Amino acid sequence: MPISALMQFPRNFLWGCATASHQVEGQTTNDWWRWAQQPGRIHNNATAARACEWWAGRYTEDFDRAASMHNNAQRISIEWSRIEPEPDQWDEYAIGRYRDMLQALHDRGMKPMVTLHHFTNPLWFADQGGWEWEQAPERFTRYVHKVVTALHDLCDLWCTINEPLVYVTQGYIFGKWPPGKRSTGAAWRVVANMLRGHAAAYHAIKAIAPAAQVGFAAHLLDIHPSAPAWLNRTPARTVDYTMNQMFTRALLTGRFAPPNGRAVRLEKIRDTLDWVGVQYYQQVNIGFDLSKPASLFINQRKPTGVPVGPGSWGGIVPDRLFKQIERMYRATRKPIYITEAGVPDPTDTLRMPYLAETIRATWRAVNFNYPVRGFFFWSLLDNYEWAEGYDPAYSFGLYQVDFETQIRTARPSATFYADICALNGLSAELINAHVPALSESMFPGGSPEQEVRWKPPLSTKR
Ligand code: BGC
Repeated sequence: MPISALMQFPRNFLWGCATASHQVEGQTTNDWWRWAQQPGRIHNNATAARACEWWAGRYTEDFDRAASMHNNAQRISIEWSRIEPEPDQWDEYAIGRYRDMLQALHDRGMKPMVTLHHFTNPLWFADQGGWEWEQAPERFTRYVHKVVTALHDLCDLWCTINEPLVYVTQGYIFGKWPPGKRSTGAAWRVVANMLRGHAAAYHAIKAIAPAAQVGFAAHLLDIHPSAPAWLNRTPARTVDYTMNQMFTRALLTGRFAPPNGRAVRLEKIRDTLDWVGVQYYQQVNIGFDLSKPASLFINQRKPTGVPVGPGSWGGIVPDRLFKQIERMYRATRKPIYITEAGVPDPTDTLRMPYLAETIRATWRAVNFNYPVRGFFFWSLLDNYEWAEGYDPAYSFGLYQVDFETQIRTARPSATFYADICALNGLSAELINAHVPALSESMFPGGSPEQEVRWKPPLSTKR
């Protein structure tokens, strides 16, 4: 295909998809497994018993799908409850299976990024108080040490903890995820321990593999005050600080300052970031709500005038990814990976424009010389969406999954993403072919008259 205009990405840019163990593997026995046994916790009481059957072996066919989309990277996570089903009992078979998985990625020319904690905990750890337990950071680090010792020859890009603030707000403030608490005191204890856990894991990984690159994945919300803005600016700022800045700032300064509690200095957490993961999904409006003491009198609303997601999902405004990258870079001066971006979209009507705009936002950032190193789309395939279970409204996959038959079907977006990855960029022709509605806004030029015709000089007679 001839190319008339191209948003080109740097050589070696990583293109891939992201997944998480509990959401795709099946056969997991962890705190989420137990949580799903309680009626009413999950949409239709669905469990992740099968999920996408990766543990039963389907990861190979799905890695083939990723490779067929010209992905040169894949983000997966490791299930702590498999590696250490009982305290200090290590399952060598499980470690071997993860070796196989990483090898399978290498065999397909894909670089792995491995997340060590993506929302789930072993039962014994949860029973001791989970991340509130004073030994939590040290226990997490022992597991990390075991995993990285066993796998560092196959992976040098590690993500310690996925979205600590989502984990904490859902599990300890809203009570919607395990352990189902509603206590800001508990929430900040957990954040402090996750900071310690991240930092101790960072040091452990560097001791084993000094060249490894270690970061964590931050969930960034595009936050605006609800109307009237003058009234709601303060809660909007509080939520922005708590969700978007607090964790990273603590790692940069060594000081953890919760929004409504005493600031504490935490030992050895400073300078424990080689890179930062940006995960961006939604725009939300934040305001005061006197009827919500449990959530600090703060209310989250859907924005108006933009497409919005199902349930309480906010606005789908992909070009705001640029702002998130910019803010994160200015705050940290670290390399950035887009470790997740995606959209709940069973009919695949939003996903293509979403992809186009998200990737353009990333390209703009790259061209501001912000060091964005890779892009991982959420997700390769539909999967177990936590409290939403298999509710089709929360289908995130480039591949649709029929969870009864386990049959995967590529959505049209999969072809679009494949073309982008193959080209290492986004061209006017790709936009024309896949999302013509965006041609005018993304590549507004382009009439054939603009072509420069070059006439070779007439050869002079001798
Ligand atoms: C999480 C994923 C989740 C996705 C879509 C992210 O916050 O890391 O596990 O499935 O959002 O909700």
